[in-house]
Amino acid sequence: MIFDRNENKEVIALLGAGNMGTAVARRFAAGRTILLGDINEKTLANVSEGLRFSGYTVETCRTDAMDKESIKEFARKAASLGAVKHFIDTAGASPNQSSPEHILKLDMVGTGYAVDAFGEVMAAGGAGIIVSSQAGYMLRIPEDVEQQILATPTEGLLDIPYIRETALVNSGVAYMVAKRVNHLQAMRAAATSWKGRRARINSISPGVIVTPLAYDEFAAAGEGYQRMIDAGAAMRTGSSDEIADACAFLLGEHAGFITGTDLLIDGGTIASIRMGQYQLDSSR
Ligand SMILES: NC(=O)c1ccc[n+]([C@@H]2O[C@H](COP(=O)([O-])OP(=O)(O)OC[C@H]3O[C@@H](n4cnc5c(N)ncnc54)[C@H](O)[C@@H]3O)[C@@H](O)[C@H]2O)c1
Repeated sequence: MIFDRNENKEVIALLGAGNMGTAVARRFAAGRTILLGDINEKTLANVSEGLRFSGYTVETCRTDAMDKESIKEFARKAASLGAVKHFIDTAGASPNQSSPEHILKLDMVGTGYAVDAFGEVMAAGGAGIIVSSQAGYMLRIPEDVEQQILATPTEGLLDIPYIRETALVNSGVAYMVAKRVNHLQAMRAAATSWKGRRARINSISPGVIVTPLAYDEFAAAGEGYQRMIDAGAAMRTGSSDEIADACAFLLGEHAGFITGTDLLIDGGTIASIRMGQYQLDSSR
């Protein structure tokens, strides 16, 4: 029996088929073709099966989000499936999962490769989201360095002296820098390559969202996280479904005037840090 005769579906490409990525797909991708990319074959198989059994149209492409050629292939595959109207980059690793080098290559340079590659295939009227983090608000990069980052192509990011000298100190700082650079990557693309394709791009900065990645963080630094959660106005963790709601807004037509910016979704944690109610420990 054929359930679905629409062969001209718009494409939504999702790099990183983890917890948040899957929630976004379930919230937003009905009636569209989902292209899932992830480095983990088992994740791709499990997530695509779950989505297919829920009625979604799903394709997969094993992709290494740290490898420029692999990401380009992912973008080419997306374009071969139809008009690429939506792109979400959720591939990432957290501080307690990885070395500073790995975090910068995946969360910063890899994100840059993805934004660049999709800047060549997005359909007019399309929209993309980079999943950054509240960590992008935890460290102030000097203004002149931010200008340098904005002016530097993806390949050159790791050569910027500030990145080499400051970001490699430890995984926590590397994560903060990478996630702040994500905000700048959305800003840069919104004014250049994505603008040229008449597509929008923004970043979102989630706070503590309970996913397997967050459990790794809790296992390594649970007390610090608990104090951080207690300090926020919401006094709780967030869920991937709440992130998916925000993404559905930013990807959808009601956000048609929003591009090049970041949406902080953190239950008030950053506000409490800026008001001195919670002290960050940046020594890890
Ligand atoms: N969970 C949180 O509290 C939280 C908070 C703020 C930001 N974030 C960010 O949200 C994003 C998604 O995180 P999540 O919590 O859904 O985690 P997750 O672990 O469920 O998902 C991450 C996915 O990225 C994939 N991935 C890792 N390395 C990859 C690579 N080289 N190539 C392709 N795929 C790769 C993993 O296989 C996994 O499926 C990450 O960028 C993370 O930094 C998470």
